[in-house]
Amino acid sequence: MKPLSVMLSMLAIGITSSAVMAEGANLPNASLPNVSPANSELVNRGAYIARAADCMACHGEDYAGGTAIETPMGGIYSTNITPSKRYGIGNYTEKDLKNALQKGRAPSHMLYPAMPYPSYSGMKDEDISALFAYLQTVPVVDEAPEKKTDLPFPFNIRALMLGWNFLNVPSTENREGLSPAQQRGEYLVNNLEHCGTCHTPRNSTMGFDKKMYLSGAQLGHWHAPNITPDESSGIGSWSEQDIVTYLKTGELEQRAYAGGPMGEAVAHSTRYLKNEDLSAIASYLKAIPAIQTDDKMSAVDVSRLPTPINESITHDLLAQKDYLAQAKTAVSNGSNAPESLYLAACGSCHGVDGYGQPDARYAPIVGLSSLRRDKPDALVNMILHGVEGATNTSPIMPGFSDELNSEQIAGITNYVRVNFGGLERSEVSAADVDRIATTGVDKPFLIKYAGLLAILGIIVAIVVIIFIIRAILRSRRRR
Ligand code: HEC
Ligand code: HEC
Ligand code: HEC
Repeated sequence: MKPLSVMLSMLAIGITSSAVMAEGANLPNASLPNVSPANSELVNRGAYIARAADCMACHGEDYAGGTAIETPMGGIYSTNITPSKRYGIGNYTEKDLKNALQKGRAPSHMLYPAMPYPSYSGMKDEDISALFAYLQTVPVVDEAPEKKTDLPFPFNIRALMLGWNFLNVPSTENREGLSPAQQRGEYLVNNLEHCGTCHTPRNSTMGFDKKMYLSGAQLGHWHAPNITPDESSGIGSWSEQDIVTYLKTGELEQRAYAGGPMGEAVAHSTRYLKNEDLSAIASYLKAIPAIQTDDKMSAVDVSRLPTPINESITHDLLAQKDYLAQAKTAVSNGSNAPESLYLAACGSCHGVDGYGQPDARYAPIVGLSSLRRDKPDALVNMILHGVEGATNTSPIMPGFSDELNSEQIAGITNYVRVNFGGLERSEVSAADVDRIATTGVDKPFLIKYAGLLAILGIIVAIVVIIFIIRAILRSRRRR
């Protein structure tokens, strides 16, 4: 009877019995595809560069493209970069790949910077040679991606990118006085891994705001936090080993978790990096200027966190089941007590005490930085919109914007911040939740007005041309 009831309760709380604790947060085992003794050393090196530059995040695990990169101007779709001659880059020469990566120039057109060439512009020629050799060995996918990029005027004029590139490429500058390991870290952070694409805020033309380098930026509903060594708003309190562990496993126990876009970066890229490369990144992130932003965070107060659970999964599940059932009944009878709301909505996955399900793949949320920030925006957005798993096989968290009202979401937010974040108090209100739910991603000035500016530009150009023609006609008449 006992095994049966365990299985039933596992089903009831939505755990797949095949779930195993991977090496870190929700990730299947890492191995480099195409790295094998049968391949040449050059190809294996190229496979590593492709991982380090995270080509798969956008071009897909099979490099067949079709992923939308959402921009304020509309979706830009990644293309097929398998060696298909018809649909991919089978006709590319090594020089063509170099131009695409370093200059944003495909053989027949300019690329949009959704392809991170402003970062890849600093890629070393020898790395591009290896990448080229590797991409020749990828299985051909003879299909075009389902969707094609179709931006509104004037952004459909790709030649405009020449002007944009002049202002914004390269996107980063090399620092002076770095050790050789830090220089390697700089190359990885700035060029291959393009960390700034998400962590550096944008200026009015959508290029990197270099003065605010790596100090955090909004990505749709996600916030990529400040990763400069500032103590209060950045990762100044992290040791180099902490950074390595986070990038290798997607998790830092009782401190931080890599969800959403960061989960993808870890899953497809950073966890494949050699330890010496991860250490180089950590050492470099410690050497960049600390920038204080208003996204401050309380330090983890371990004394206020629930004690970690060590009991076996069986014990834990059976003990939790009653709790959760009681809470669900209370909520359906109209209770708005934050604890019941948490247990009913979140407890089945994150556990009564926030440590997730031992042996299962639901994230422990105790102590996470996303719970400890002064601004609750990132956390509230996760509750509203959910968290997509880092890979196709990772469990996902559903969004609660339909199921719970703002009052209830505020209650849960305060509950997790105080009980699992260790904050002394949290006073998020229903009005705060409404504000966060309705805050659009503000488009930078030039993008908002580009249509208008382009039309004005055309009018100005026509006026100028008319003046020139008149001037020419007049001078002819005089003759
Ligand atoms: C952040 C997302 C992203 C990453 C990471 C990325 N790409 Fe791209 N790539 C794109 C998008 C989007 C396009 C299409 C751009 C356009 O339509 O202008 C593209 C286009 C290209 C093209 C041009 C194909 C053509 O149309 O001729 C090549 C080549 C390419 N990528 C190679 C790579 C390689 C190699 C890597 C890894 C080193 C990589 N990309 C990483 C998003 C990405
Ligand atoms: C595709 C966008 C993206 C890229 C690329 C990216 N990050 Fe992140 N990063 C995020 C987001 C979003 C978060 C917040 C994750 C969360 O709270 O679950 C984050 C979180 C982090 C954190 C945890 C900070 C904290 O206070 O909890 C660190 C450290 C970090 N990133 C470092 C890096 C480094 C180093 C790179 C490059 C190797 C990188 N990131 C590349 C989007 C990105
Ligand atoms: C169906 C299971 C499930 C439910 C229900 C659920 N979550 Fe999650 N949650 C997850 C999973 C899985 C992740 C990790 C996703 C990933 O790896 O990308 C997660 C991640 C998180 C994170 C970490 C985000 C980060 O990246 O920093 C927080 C915080 C969180 N959940 C809070 C909540 C709250 C609050 C509720 C209730 C309103 C809730 N969750 C309900 C499954 C769930």
